[in-house]
Amino acid sequence: GVVHPFFGTHQAGIATPVQANLHFAAFDMADDATRDDLISLLKDWSYAASRMTQGLDVSATGAVGGSPDAPPDDTGEALGLPASALTITFGLGPDLFEKNGVDRFGIAARRPDALKLLPRFVGDALDPAASGGELCVQACADDPQVAVHAIRNLSRIAFGRAQIRWSKLGFGRTSKTSSDQLTPRNLFGYKDGTANILGDDERALDEQVWAAGPSWLAGGSYLVVRTIRQKIEPWDRQQLTEQDRIIGRSKGEGAPLSGGTEFTEPDFAKKDAAGQPAIDMHAHVRLAHPDFNHGIRLLRRGYNFVDGNDPLGSLNAGLFFLSYQSDPQRFVTIQRALRSDLLNEYIQHTGSAVFAIPPGAKQGSYVGAGLFA
Ligand code: HEM
Repeated sequence: GVVHPFFGTHQAGIATPVQANLHFAAFDMADDATRDDLISLLKDWSYAASRMTQGLDVSATGAVGGSPDAPPDDTGEALGLPASALTITFGLGPDLFEKNGVDRFGIAARRPDALKLLPRFVGDALDPAASGGELCVQACADDPQVAVHAIRNLSRIAFGRAQIRWSKLGFGRTSKTSSDQLTPRNLFGYKDGTANILGDDERALDEQVWAAGPSWLAGGSYLVVRTIRQKIEPWDRQQLTEQDRIIGRSKGEGAPLSGGTEFTEPDFAKKDAAGQPAIDMHAHVRLAHPDFNHGIRLLRRGYNFVDGNDPLGSLNAGLFFLSYQSDPQRFVTIQRALRSDLLNEYIQHTGSAVFAIPPGAKQGSYVGAGLFA
């Protein structure tokens, strides 16, 4: 199976091809945790991640090699499973640097100005218990059991130092980050990821995704997380032409409504037979397009989710939106442009978080090391 090296210039799980499944968790440090606790946690996490991404147990003794009188180091449910393209990506939230004016870990002065809470957007209905977080771990794999095993074991390693604040399971990638991948579909049935930044587009990655500084973050990025509830039942009652108009692309082919095929550039000036814009002025792809957003593009890496149904019988489903960009302000610009998006009638943002994503660790070192140097 595919193995993505854990060590390298950039953390894996950003430009590497997006996998089929996700388990994402946000953590908070324990109230009495010290700087040494934070450093040791990042070291222990990096070591365990470097093993699990090779398809190994979290430690050398692992699930069954230790003392029979002690709980095993590894929980065991991934025994015998291949690495399954597992990537584990670590991030640091604004509150880690300073919370309520307290510099718990001696890193407040190193917080980049760009790393701060996102502003409130029109229509937000955020649940604080499912937002924020001081640390995050994005585990993606082609086997859900492998992704869940990773979060479960990292959370176990964190015991006493940090604990899960909220987490999310995702299935069905809603983006593509490699030209070999077919464009998948989101829960509204549309191809999602057509115009995404691809992992081999070095120029776009350098210009749009990798952060230039501060020095401890150079080669890293910023992750914006938005849990977006999709109102599935009203959407499903909408006519196909109306659905197409809202997105600005055709459902079958994923072509822009200005014509052509999936990868034809949209022509926003084109008029239809009635003299109206072929792509509605408030279609999602128009408002989100770089032409109207100072050339900004995001590397989208989201997943579908379905968490059963709500008490009224509607599916509790949506898009777990993940985007990587060189500055969270880029996301803010696009999200603000989406204020009048026709899609807004059918979606609601219910969770939000932002994290600085350190660069990859050198062999034998750990993610975030530059912050403590
Ligand atoms: C494009 C769906 C939320 C940013 C698209 C496309 C679809 C889609 C079908 C066209 C195919 C593609 O290029 O990927 C959705 C749905 C959403 C959602 C169903 C909510 C549930 C968002 C959010 C953002 C965003 C919150 C960022 C703030 C973009 C961007 C593009 C795009 C930048 C590419 C535009 C282009 O360059 O043509 N989206 N999207 N989307 N979306 Fe979304």
